[in-house]
Order: sequence, then C-alpha cells, then structure tokens
Amino acid sequence: MQKHPFTIALSGKGGTGKTTVSSLLIRSFIDMGETPVLAVDADPNANLHEALGVSVHETLGSMREEAFTRHIPPGMNRHDYVRFRFRQALVEAEGFDLVAMGRPEGSGCYCFANDLLSECMIQLERDYRFIVIDTEAGMEHISRGTIGKPDMLLIVSDPGARGLRTIARIKDIATQLGLDRGQIHVVFNRYKSGAAPVDIGNEIPIAIVPEDSAVEMADFAATPVSHIPADSPARIIVRELAEKILNLADKQHANQKGGC
Ligand SMILES: Nc1ncnc2c1ncn2[C@@H]1O[C@H](COP(=O)(O)OP(=O)(O)OP(=O)(O)O)[C@@H](O)[C@H]1O
Ligand SMILES: [Mg+2]
Repeated sequence: MQKHPFTIALSGKGGTGKTTVSSLLIRSFIDMGETPVLAVDADPNANLHEALGVSVHETLGSMREEAFTRHIPPGMNRHDYVRFRFRQALVEAEGFDLVAMGRPEGSGCYCFANDLLSECMIQLERDYRFIVIDTEAGMEHISRGTIGKPDMLLIVSDPGARGLRTIARIKDIATQLGLDRGQIHVVFNRYKSGAAPVDIGNEIPIAIVPEDSAVEMADFAATPVSHIPADSPARIIVRELAEKILNLADKQHANQKGGC
C-alpha cells in the first residue's frame, strides 16, 4: 500500500547542527528501510549533499534563472523544459534523492517560475516515504510556497538561554506559517554530558543529541557526517528520533485513513 509522504523540516539558528541532524535522520530512515527519502536542501548555503556524500550540479534557483533566460530547445515549451531541467537537478543516490533549492528569488519577478517549481515539487514529493528539509531559521522557501508546509518541524538548538530565545522566535514564524504547536518539536544538540545543568525552561525536547567526537572528526576530515559509525552516540540518538517520527507518521496515516 502506498503511504503518503511524511515531511519533516529542520530549522534553527546558524551552526546549531541542522545539517548534521538532517543527514543522520535521512541515514536512519534508510537503515530502517523507510525509503525512498527525499532530502531537500532549502538552505541557500547548501551543504546537505556533503553531509550525505553526494555531489550537486545545480540548484533549483540557478536552474530557474537559466531556464527562464535562455532559449529553450525546439519542440519543447517552457513548462516541459522546466520539468526536464528539474528532473536533471535531482540527485539520485542509494535510498534517497536530493534536491537543492538554492536562493528563493533573484532580482526579477519570479512568480510564474516559482509556481512552476512548486508544481514540480508537489509532483515529485508524492513518490517518497519521508521528506527531510534542511532549512534556515526564516524558512523562506516554505513561506514563499516553493516547498509545502511540513507535517513536523524540528527546531535544532543548543540547550542554553540564547537557544531558548531563538526557539521562541522560530515557533512564532512556524505558527504564522500555519503549523500547530503539536507539530513543532525541539531537538537539543551538542549536549555535553557532565556539563553544568542548563536551564531549558519548560521545553521538553523530542531528542537530546550528545556532543559526539565522531561528528567532529567527520567535519575535520571533510568526510560525510552521515557515514559516522552506527554505534556513535549522535547516530544512536537520531535513530531513536527517527523511530519516534515513524510512529507519529504511522499514527497520522491511520487517522487520515479513518477520516476518509
Ligand atoms: N552532536 C554534535 N557533536 C559534535 N559536533 C557537532 C554536533 N552537531 C554539529 N556539530 C558540529 O557543529 C558544526 C555546525 O553543524 P551543522 O553544519 O550541522 O550546523 P547547521 O545548523 O547546519 O549550520 P549552518 O547554519 O551553517 O547551516 C559543524 O562543525 C558540526 O560538525
Ligand atoms: Mg547547515
């Protein structure tokens, strides 16, 4: 039976670990056989592909610029050409595909182009079991509609006072985008065991990912962080997070079926 895709967006302030957690989450879904996964890099500073160990030739942003400024091949209309280029921009790998969104907009009017891109995205998304979106704090692609509203938002944060303030700000943006509070969860990352307890207020995180030397080493050696050993602490915790998300996705799916 074809299950609907379940979409998870990861947001948070700069450098908190969005890309690290996104790539480990994608790795976990693949390990669990929950495939195919669509990895969406919605950060203009795209680097999710590096964390997953694949190369990106072009982003949808640069494709859009080009597809609307150059002459299209004879016998093709612009819609077909954009669809064709869109498929070319999709990176195919073992268990997952990846698309990098690039910049939300250039200098001209892109309504028509963005409508076409979001139409392509909607068609593409149907083919996946899970969609994982690595996005910046402002979630611009979601607010502009080039990516649909996620089923779940994970706010990745460090467990400190400044992190908590950012969580509150991102929650406000998310509710303005139409997400329910119940769809928004916090992931604390880089938790140092033995460190002084931090005041995390009333926040009950869905996962606490530890500081992990394997992640640091991958960063240092420029190897894909999603390839760290399966028994490394961050990978174990993110796997547990993936199992929780799978349960929630299955419940949502069962409710949707019941409602039809
Ligand atoms: N659990 C962890 N243990 C050790 N190092 C970590 C952990 N999580 C992230 N890091 C390190 O923190 C840095 C930032 O991580 P990452 O690139 O995933 O954050 P980001 O939120 O995606 O950043 P940006 O805002 O630049 O996109 C990287 O050097 C990464 O290796
Ligand atoms: Mg990142």
